[in-house]
Amino acid sequence: MDIPHSRLLIDESDIKAVTDVLASGHIAQGRKTRDFEGEFASFVGTKFATAVSSGTAAIHLALASLGVGRGDEVIMPSYVCTSPYMAALHAGAVPIIADIGNSDFNLDLESVKNRITPRTKALIVPHMFGCPVDIDPFLELGIPLIEDCAQSAGAEYRGRRVGSMGRVSVFSFYATKIMTTGEGGMVMTNDPEINDQLKALRDYDGRSLDVVRYNYKMTDMEAALGLSQLKRLPDFIRRRKQIARTYNNRLSSYNLSLQFQAPHKNSVHYRYVLLCEKMEQLRGHMRKRGVSCEKPVSVPLHFSFPNIRCPNTDFVYGRAISIPLYPALSDDEVDYVMDSLELGLITIF
Ligand SMILES: Cc1ncc(COP(=O)(O)O)c(C=O)c1O
Repeated sequence: MDIPHSRLLIDESDIKAVTDVLASGHIAQGRKTRDFEGEFASFVGTKFATAVSSGTAAIHLALASLGVGRGDEVIMPSYVCTSPYMAALHAGAVPIIADIGNSDFNLDLESVKNRITPRTKALIVPHMFGCPVDIDPFLELGIPLIEDCAQSAGAEYRGRRVGSMGRVSVFSFYATKIMTTGEGGMVMTNDPEINDQLKALRDYDGRSLDVVRYNYKMTDMEAALGLSQLKRLPDFIRRRKQIARTYNNRLSSYNLSLQFQAPHKNSVHYRYVLLCEKMEQLRGHMRKRGVSCEKPVSVPLHFSFPNIRCPNTDFVYGRAISIPLYPALSDDEVDYVMDSLELGLITIF
């Protein structure tokens, strides 16, 4: 078998949605984009949504809408892709890198507290691998919080959808995400002034020249795909949960560390991450069986800065392996992934 780490789930309804827009003669940002914003806002539970061209553009606009600019500090975890770091640089801000917890792999509160200064203007808090952060204590810090939901559309924390709790929140619809528009993103808020700012910064024309504006628009082709995928999102999440349950059951007799899922969190299992001392050997074994496993974060941010210490990130990064988990996996493939993993665990250890 050949099982990639991620695989798209595009069906006939997705294809029809996009080709209908192509045939309509209106393909740039328009009615479909507004419909997608409205439906996504109802799904997440916020008043407003602004569709943009990527998750990175979404973080940049979120920072700009909060007035974060030159010299301001923005705290984020080391154990994340480089997107939040780049978005902070786009805003002219200084990214401040904090550690994660070693059981839930999410941003660590104490590490954040140790890095707050009078120049701290925002926190970027990703819900990693589909599992929500314990967000309440972060909100209590009183610093504008950007929820990064790029990996967690549909997840819940104490009954609240992720994306509905931060001052601003962002989503990514990149090809391998929980739902996709190819490239794309969304910025959510309940604050009408922030929403006005987001709309005024997303495109450049017909507005005053006194501030820097961008072209971060989503196309109606992408929005049509987003609307179609959003209809199927509950099915995608159901299947992800079913596969995660199967993996949990099959692996319960092995002494493995998995991402800790507290009962008040409802994960969407974007990634199934396990910690393993002989991670590279296990990855090599899986590759020989045709199963592609990846490091869930390719390189932590603090690796580029020898003076920054993030011991939990070092610990997790050195052991974490992500095995295939996505709705397009068949039952036979799920069994094959588990048979291969169990064989690896028995032979390597
Ligand atoms: C946590 C997180 N934030 C932000 C992004 C950036 O999203 P995009 O690739 O759409 O720019 C990603 C995407 O990989 C992500 O995983």
